[in-house]
Amino acid sequence: MLLKEAAGWNQTEEDWRRLLRLQPDGCFGLECDGRLAATTTALIYDKRLAWIGMVLTLPEFRGRGFARRLMEHALSYLEAAGVQWIKLDATDMGAPLYRSLGFETESVIERWAGTPPEFASVSVSRYVPLPALDERAFGADRSALLADLARTAAACIGDQAFAMGRPGSNAPYFGPCVSKDEDAVSSLVNWFRGLYPGQCLFWDVPLENKAAVDLARRLGFRPVRRVERMARAGVRGAPPIQTDSASAFAVAGFEYG
Ligand SMILES: CC(C)(COP(=O)(O)OP(=O)(O)OC[C@H]1O[C@@H](n2cnc3c(N)ncnc32)[C@H](O)[C@@H]1OP(=O)(O)O)[C@@H](O)C(=O)NCCC(=O)NCCS
Repeated sequence: MLLKEAAGWNQTEEDWRRLLRLQPDGCFGLECDGRLAATTTALIYDKRLAWIGMVLTLPEFRGRGFARRLMEHALSYLEAAGVQWIKLDATDMGAPLYRSLGFETESVIERWAGTPPEFASVSVSRYVPLPALDERAFGADRSALLADLARTAAACIGDQAFAMGRPGSNAPYFGPCVSKDEDAVSSLVNWFRGLYPGQCLFWDVPLENKAAVDLARRLGFRPVRRVERMARAGVRGAPPIQTDSASAFAVAGFEYG
């Protein structure tokens, strides 16, 4: 928590615990002088895709090559597992390191913050997993992550759309959200707003999805930070991952994709 607080990030203890639950052997730390100085997590979704996250070095230990060593360790772990593609969401501070390790930018995600007013919308239904809808949008099977996130807060609009949300250290977090249409997303935002009335919410918006950008703006959200989504092949000649950017309205988190 000290590491992520030094970076001002939004994760809670539960977010760390979730990563440790989902990939206990993929969460790496580097100790120096008896202290945890740096971390990196590698979450394997399926043979096609793994996600790198929580790349953090305490400020007093930066510039000593710790992040590079942990990244190289995580990449060896993923290569040994034979994962075809490795992706991550890079801050400006992290991007030069990833570029030097062969990652290339594929899109941009912006964090938008806002306190939407209550508005009329259709009511949401109880959450049921929609694995085919999610896999088409994301490009890999992340059902284990979704099952874990769903324990906190999740809702559906029929079999057309779903959204999840969770608390954050700085603001409640809306996402992931996958939907075939924009109206369902506004109802899901209204549902999540109702769980945290009057509070500022975070929503990580993929800029490729113009409908998501327009909707976030209309609901009073504004961009506050930006990351580059980067990818690197883990296996030479691996077929590219197909995603459906038109149905991805909110990512699951920079540490998850
Ligand atoms: C990004 C971060 C993890 C780097 O940690 P670090 O342990 O200092 O990184 P390293 O010493 O291993 O440096 C790795 C590379 O990063 C780059 N880098 C690190 N600090 C840099 C700086 N202040 N300015 C420019 N480049 C920098 C360099 O390219 C360096 O490459 P080199 O090995 O050829 O010198 C650390 O600054 C941090 O925790 N930042 C806040 C959280 C964050 O943004 N994390 C990245 C999430 S995507």
